[in-house]
Amino acid sequence: MLLLLFLILLSPLAQADSYHPPISSGYGNWSTAYEKARHFVCGLTLTEKVNLTTAVGTGQTLGYTLGIIPRLNFRGISNDDSPTGVRGTDYSSAFAPGLNLAMSWDRNLIYAQSYANGAEHKAKGINVALAPVSGPLGRSPEGGRNWEAFSPDPYLSGIAFGEAVSGMQASGAAAVGKHFILYEQEHFREVVEWNEWLAGPNITEPYSVTCDDRTFHELYLFPWYDAVHRGMAGVMCSYNQVNNTQVCQNDHLLNEVLKGELGFQGFVTSDDGSQHSGIDSALAGMDQTSPGETSPNGVDGFGESFWGPNLTLSVLNGSIPEWRLDDMVTRIMAAYYYLDQDDNYPELNFASSSLETYGYEYPKADVDWQQVNYHVDVRKNHSQIIRSVGANSAVLLKNTNNTLPLRRPKQIAIIGEDAGPSKYGPNGCEDRACVDGTVAMGWGSGTTNFPYLVDPLSAIQRRALEDGSVVQYVLDNWAIDQIGSVSSQASVCLTFINADSGEGYLEIDKNYGDRNNLTAWKRGDEMVKQVAVNCTQTVVIIHAPGPILMEEWIENPNVTAVLFAGFPGQESGNSLVDVLYGDVNPSGKLPWTVGKKRSDYSTDVLYEPNGLVPQLNFTEGLFIDYRHFDQSGIQPRFEFGYGLSYTNFSYHDIRIDEVLAPSATPSSSAASTAVNPSLCPSKSLNPSDYTFPATISSLTDYIYPYLAPSMTITTSLATPTVTIQPRTPSPQGGDPALYDVLYKVKVKVQNTGSVAGQEVSQLYLDLGNGEPVRQLRGFQKPLLKPGQTKDVTFDLRRRDVSIWDVVSQKWVEVTDLGTKIGVYVGASSRDLPLHDEISVSS
Ligand code: BGC
Repeated sequence: MLLLLFLILLSPLAQADSYHPPISSGYGNWSTAYEKARHFVCGLTLTEKVNLTTAVGTGQTLGYTLGIIPRLNFRGISNDDSPTGVRGTDYSSAFAPGLNLAMSWDRNLIYAQSYANGAEHKAKGINVALAPVSGPLGRSPEGGRNWEAFSPDPYLSGIAFGEAVSGMQASGAAAVGKHFILYEQEHFREVVEWNEWLAGPNITEPYSVTCDDRTFHELYLFPWYDAVHRGMAGVMCSYNQVNNTQVCQNDHLLNEVLKGELGFQGFVTSDDGSQHSGIDSALAGMDQTSPGETSPNGVDGFGESFWGPNLTLSVLNGSIPEWRLDDMVTRIMAAYYYLDQDDNYPELNFASSSLETYGYEYPKADVDWQQVNYHVDVRKNHSQIIRSVGANSAVLLKNTNNTLPLRRPKQIAIIGEDAGPSKYGPNGCEDRACVDGTVAMGWGSGTTNFPYLVDPLSAIQRRALEDGSVVQYVLDNWAIDQIGSVSSQASVCLTFINADSGEGYLEIDKNYGDRNNLTAWKRGDEMVKQVAVNCTQTVVIIHAPGPILMEEWIENPNVTAVLFAGFPGQESGNSLVDVLYGDVNPSGKLPWTVGKKRSDYSTDVLYEPNGLVPQLNFTEGLFIDYRHFDQSGIQPRFEFGYGLSYTNFSYHDIRIDEVLAPSATPSSSAASTAVNPSLCPSKSLNPSDYTFPATISSLTDYIYPYLAPSMTITTSLATPTVTIQPRTPSPQGGDPALYDVLYKVKVKVQNTGSVAGQEVSQLYLDLGNGEPVRQLRGFQKPLLKPGQTKDVTFDLRRRDVSIWDVVSQKWVEVTDLGTKIGVYVGASSRDLPLHDEISVSS
């Protein structure tokens, strides 16, 4: 019955015939920004407004500059990637990606690194950082861009997403959360991209996802609440379709859910090529297009745009009401004022298209040769934060005979290509799309240039020499003889294996972004087994974008320690040494499950198109990752939340206190009946507002907002079936009552070992009602000295004890449905010594 209702509620929205754009009003701490924005926007001409919506398609920052208005001395807005640092420049840092931030489970580190990344964007003159990433959520472990994001658990992902947004925006740069939404694989995300890779039948549209409404809210949308609640300034709509409608022109997802239900106050920008229409996307809630191409599929379409002159025309001929354009621009400018970017924001001082000092200001047009790169060093002391993230995120999976930490080993063997530098340098391949030497980030647009990369070999060697150890190494995974001889002589063998994944526009060995398998690359398993034949202290170190299968060697008694290091960024080797030698006690925990075999997971990438428009049905519903392993009784190799320390912890004394919170307030998303919700007083237009000024000589491939000579204004172009029903959005993050803390769960955690350490203490709930056996709803990371006990408190918000009711379209507390809540606390999703209940009467 419930399933039937889901399907009805999310029935295909193939082409909307009515649109519900909410009028932004500047709730709460956005109100001043909105006032300033409205004042600014109402003083603009039609073409100046259009200019702010449409990236120009050429110019310095990957073509993302918008809205240069010389008349007002407004320098425009610059956007640039990425979650790992400013993309396409030099003298900036290469941070650890979302993967390691999630592995750290450390709110402070996530905030601190995101602040530093934002500060670097700002110092380079970038207003809008295209980061952080929470889509993909990580439905399938093979998903190519999972490493850019946090975790397939929506709670961990939401907390991390919120901290990342707050940290980044505290620096002054605007954060664009991406990619909204249900973008869970690389295969078939773009037509031309895929058809170029494929030998077989071509696809005609990007893949479309079908997902029931409850799963949508409880898994994929869940983290976006937290980020919007924390004031996220921008959202990037993704490449895929949902219910066979492009997300960037999906009225339900953008207008009703993001801007309505979640009360998102900022602007929605397209991804490169994710916009597939002009009028529909504007009416459905997209506010900005980048980089301005018209081709839906990323062909070199610079110089043309779905918007630019087409948007001007659509407003003039009535297809798009002017108030919608005003709302688009108000949202963009509100974000600018929200971050105080009108107050001495640094000038853009680099060109992401080149690292040369001199170049064309407009590279596509070969015009204006000048200094384009000022090589400003923005790194400050950020290397310390990166090193700390790397060390505090490493997950110790096995440690028998106290192999780690290392204690002045007599002879160390370092084995595997992943221990050493690349022959071509850390930036030797386009957007890091090769595996040569140690891997410290995945590939694609979520990368940045390394200022340097401390490889494990050099860092370990430096440290080992202090101890007087002998160090030997073999960096060729196929050098069987040398590996055999070096590993038989050493007292400890540090064996490095890896895997990689990335974004779909680049491939490695036919891994088209998504991984083709979950095993170690480059003979990794064989190499570990070979080393373990001779070496009784084989330590395996893994650099990978997600889980890898370890069954071939994990139980081998000579494999005495295993450390999963993720992708640590520029300080990789230093972070590793900190952990290997015990300067930092490992405290990372797995943000996903390590299964015993690939088929143990409930989900996988669709690798072969199942139609011209590939269809992905998320039939597993809520049961991805550990929720599936628990539900189906499958024993994982290492469960979600698992991770060892050099000390031990114990858990005692659970207590639940109810907090007196006001009862839930009704959601305020009632439809408004306003007919013409004008934001600016109407002005009469004259042709000079939209015709090409005689004073400008046009640049090739530059997107101007003026009407092309061929364009004539006729109202017959209007789409007659469109009914526009503006709605009033909710406050930022949706109903504020969702964030009320209803219960405080208190436990005592004790360090029972002999060294200080941090313990990621975890709280899981059993919410009944067809929900997973248990789901993460709290974590804390106390630092404990040997013998010390600390009180640890988990706050449960209303949303944490609720499920999405598809009938009322609201979050409903399960206790109101007559269900008592099981509460479990412990060290991982399967090590939960403490248990209590929240009863229905409370
Ligand atoms: C990616 C985005 C990125 C954009 C600009 C796209 O291919 O999906 O994440 O921000 O490129 O580089």
